[in-house]
Amino acid sequence: MENLDQRYEPIEVDDEDDFSANSTGNRPFLEIAEARFGRREVLKGFLAAAATGAFGGTLTSKAALAAGDSSSFTFKALEQVIKEGHQVAEGYSAEVLIRWGDKVLADAPDFDANNQSAEAQAKQFGYNCDFLAYMPLPLGSDNSEHGLIHSNHEYTDPQLMFANFSKDTQTAEQSRIEMMAHNGSVIEVKKEGGKWRVVANSKYARRITLDTEMRISGPAAGHDRMKTGYDPTGTRIFGTINNCAGGTTPWGTALMAEENFQGYFAGGDPENAPEARNYKRYGVKAKGRYPWHKTVARFDLGKEPNEPNRYGWIVEYDPYDPNSTPVKRTALGRFKHEGATSIVNKDGRVVFYLGDDQRFDYLYRFVTKGSYDPDNRAVNRDLLDQGTLSVAKFDEKTVTWLPIVFGEGPLTPENDFHSQGDLLIETRRAADLVGGTPMDRPEDVEPNPVNGRVYVMLTNNSKRKEGQTDAVNPRHSNRYGQIVELVPPGGAGADADHAADVFEWNMFLMAGNKASGAVYHPESQAWISSPDNCAFDTLGRLWISTDQGSKQIKDNIPDGMYATDVEGPGRALLKLFYAVPRSAEMCGPEFTPDGKTLFVAVQHPAEEKGSTFETPSTRWPDFADGVPPRPSIVAITKDDGGLIGT
Ligand code: FEO
Ligand code: CA
Ligand code: CA
Ligand code: CA
Repeated sequence: MENLDQRYEPIEVDDEDDFSANSTGNRPFLEIAEARFGRREVLKGFLAAAATGAFGGTLTSKAALAAGDSSSFTFKALEQVIKEGHQVAEGYSAEVLIRWGDKVLADAPDFDANNQSAEAQAKQFGYNCDFLAYMPLPLGSDNSEHGLIHSNHEYTDPQLMFANFSKDTQTAEQSRIEMMAHNGSVIEVKKEGGKWRVVANSKYARRITLDTEMRISGPAAGHDRMKTGYDPTGTRIFGTINNCAGGTTPWGTALMAEENFQGYFAGGDPENAPEARNYKRYGVKAKGRYPWHKTVARFDLGKEPNEPNRYGWIVEYDPYDPNSTPVKRTALGRFKHEGATSIVNKDGRVVFYLGDDQRFDYLYRFVTKGSYDPDNRAVNRDLLDQGTLSVAKFDEKTVTWLPIVFGEGPLTPENDFHSQGDLLIETRRAADLVGGTPMDRPEDVEPNPVNGRVYVMLTNNSKRKEGQTDAVNPRHSNRYGQIVELVPPGGAGADADHAADVFEWNMFLMAGNKASGAVYHPESQAWISSPDNCAFDTLGRLWISTDQGSKQIKDNIPDGMYATDVEGPGRALLKLFYAVPRSAEMCGPEFTPDGKTLFVAVQHPAEEKGSTFETPSTRWPDFADGVPPRPSIVAITKDDGGLIGT
């Protein structure tokens, strides 16, 4: 019998793992609105807006409803049932492309779950694939049948990776296997006869691990607080950590976000250390979630107190050059970065949307100082080192981007900030002081290139109390999350001004079951919980991936890909297109440029209480005795070769 107390708790299982460290109580809208109108009036206004379509919606008219399905998606929605295998809508095929342990580098050995080694893992596909980027070959083309896939590997589930695992007896080799199973992979992929395959012996194939040397650049590079015993320059580091979602740049590089980095550090006396305030705001504690500090000095806070300052950044690298050095771009701030999605603004500057995935933390935007040059890739190389990082402050109808700039407002030595580098190392404290709006865990934030609007996945926040609600986070004890639509000024599509100081916003939908105060299209064919990542198809329609954590089993609906229109009579009408296997999370949705393939990442199948290497709750995708479940990338195509979702 397994001793549950000994069981390794996964890092991102659900809300319980996501304690908030924001104690500022920034609640600008609620205080203003409720003081002025009273709470009942505020709620009434919200509901009236829903009914009249002030959510940006053309909510369906009775006539449209009478005609039947108002959705522009032609597939028959899946029923919301959890199964041990994955499920895709009729008329589509979902094929596993690569699994944890499969070959990435040409000389990788075959996967053997019972004899895994760090050396093998460093050459094989890592664990818990998350963000995916499809990058066409050659660079700059829109080839939709031959390209590279970059995959993040967010974290590890040792209780599902190793036989007879116990955290207390975890070996140095097991820790090292975990380190080699983190970070990223690059594979070359090709579609032949309608089917995708990984190209063997590709010159692009690459594993990025905690051994990969990286550079630190931007305003915090070389800062004293970035220096360690093994890097007195504060500009070099090995690897990245907990790479959740990410993004790509217009110049063809990939961005890996560093999310829950705090759990990898332990030891020392963090409450009395010089960085105590900083540790507290980011949740760095004496007891971590991984025991790596026992065997690797840099994860021991007592030995390397500045090492945590070197994580929590956005990492940029070039998948087209397997020898390129990844760079941590500190100008984009330090927090629990969910992702970094970009759009070229009409003035040529590049705008990145960033979420800090923690309860009561913030939504951010970064606008480059320089302009993107489509004809000269070298000019774009260091665009991410200079620009303006801002935090979002929501009011009843608008969102204002407040710059985080040294010397401006409260961001001065009086508040113990002595440089832009200081500000960026403690981005959260700077955002507290300038007055960002504490959100219900911002996950993916992504601009829709077709309608020019920006979609914000707010996953949930069960800790928000009744007196803490506001217009954009309107539910207390928010178990299910919501999706917010930002509307930049200037017009639709390419006319939108993503660098403007003030946008408007709409509530796109409120997730949850009927009893939870959810707001969808009345004809919705599914309900969702905990929106996490998203993608847009070639028509600009929204595809939402969900991550309920342990709520998946409790609420008994699968995680997966849910599709909805953003315009017209099907706005906020949800249909389930693809469901992950039991207790997996849906990650990384990415369309090829032609819209005919949807790649998705199936993360942590079988991650639930009591589910172990010996007795996992599913053995997807192999379903072979003794073989544990394996996180995998799946390629989804339409059987008639057409556009997905039409
Ligand atoms: Fe790794 Fe915020 O999900
Ligand atoms: Ca995510
Ligand atoms: Ca996720
Ligand atoms: Ca999530």
